[in-house]
Amino acid sequence: MKNIEDQENLAGKIALLRLDLNVPLKNKDILDETRIDKIIPVINFLLNRKTKILVISHVGRPKGKKNNDLSLKPICLNIEKKIKKKIKLITSNLYEITKDKLFTQEEEVIFLENIRFYREEEINDSKFAKQIASLGDFYVNDAFSCSHRDHASVSKITKFLPSFAGLQLQSEINALKKITSDIESPITCIIGGSKISTKIGLIKNLTNKLDNLVFVGGMANNILNFKGFKVGKSIKEDHCNNIIDDIFMNAEKNRCKIYYPEDVRVGKNFDSHSEIKSLKDISKEDIILDIGPKTVEKIKKIIENSRTVFWNGPAGYFENENFENGSLQICKIIENNTKNNSLYSVVGGGDTIAVINKTGSLNNFNFVSTAGGAFLEYLEGKELPGIKALN
Ligand code: 3PG
Repeated sequence: MKNIEDQENLAGKIALLRLDLNVPLKNKDILDETRIDKIIPVINFLLNRKTKILVISHVGRPKGKKNNDLSLKPICLNIEKKIKKKIKLITSNLYEITKDKLFTQEEEVIFLENIRFYREEEINDSKFAKQIASLGDFYVNDAFSCSHRDHASVSKITKFLPSFAGLQLQSEINALKKITSDIESPITCIIGGSKISTKIGLIKNLTNKLDNLVFVGGMANNILNFKGFKVGKSIKEDHCNNIIDDIFMNAEKNRCKIYYPEDVRVGKNFDSHSEIKSLKDISKEDIILDIGPKTVEKIKKIIENSRTVFWNGPAGYFENENFENGSLQICKIIENNTKNNSLYSVVGGGDTIAVINKTGSLNNFNFVSTAGGAFLEYLEGKELPGIKALN
């Protein structure tokens, strides 16, 4: 893999810079800026080398359709302030842009609008990748957190341009390499969040690497449903009982213990107050939005008996403070045990970082990865398409 800092003669060229600016947004307000802060160094690096920068990123899952709520506009405005330079956002059709008309003399940073507004992105379309590639002189991937996606601007594009690893991508890979080679048992992985379809398929391959696997958040609803508990109107993925069956079989074979909530906090909608319920009392109108206090206590013991803890995905709908307790408690327990050196902690994922930032404890973990799904796939031992393409 060639690194961007080792390259000479970048001056006057156009860099196509793939970033992951998929930050949590509410009514166009950025709820957590960590992913943005982590990529400011690569932008400054390229600017110092007198390179013009065309940024490519996605935000959310617009599924190939234009969606104003998922525009990169608020993110551009945020970055403008951070780099103290004007940024132009190109909203016109990507197929109508040409390299020679892209930058004026003064312009240094331009953003393409959300690349997932084009369905070609997610199907890794060659023509589309070639069109984007025609807009620059070289390509830099500084988006480790979406390098598990075999998408046009992450993987196919590298077929058409000299391609390099960015600063943040390298630091994430180096840290994860070190962690996975020096790892100490017992190893616990806490998996939560709402992206069930992204994660559920890869979990069975994690069981041979872990001593404990703890399900919380949306992920846990599928396990509860599989175990015969009613989950009311809670989010869950359909048709995945076979996958869960495999997870339990593999876990047993590999002596990995699986834990899931013993009690929960439910609401009638996402804005409501919370009520603690035991699993047998969940009604068909309930939405599970957090883990309950007994579950928190159980997780505390598991963490205290671990030497390594990976945490990806909140335990509940932490955006409403009535359902933030589980996530904040997990954060605090891992943090305390990291501070007294009883374990090595690695936390990852956009929403997990947002939880950590709520408590102001970003620097109290051994390693914080911006990646969620990519982090888990890396842990699984998979070669990520975006990294493979750079290699
Ligand atoms: C992430 O937030 O993990 C990355 O941006 C990838 O997003 P995705 O799961 O929608 O592909």
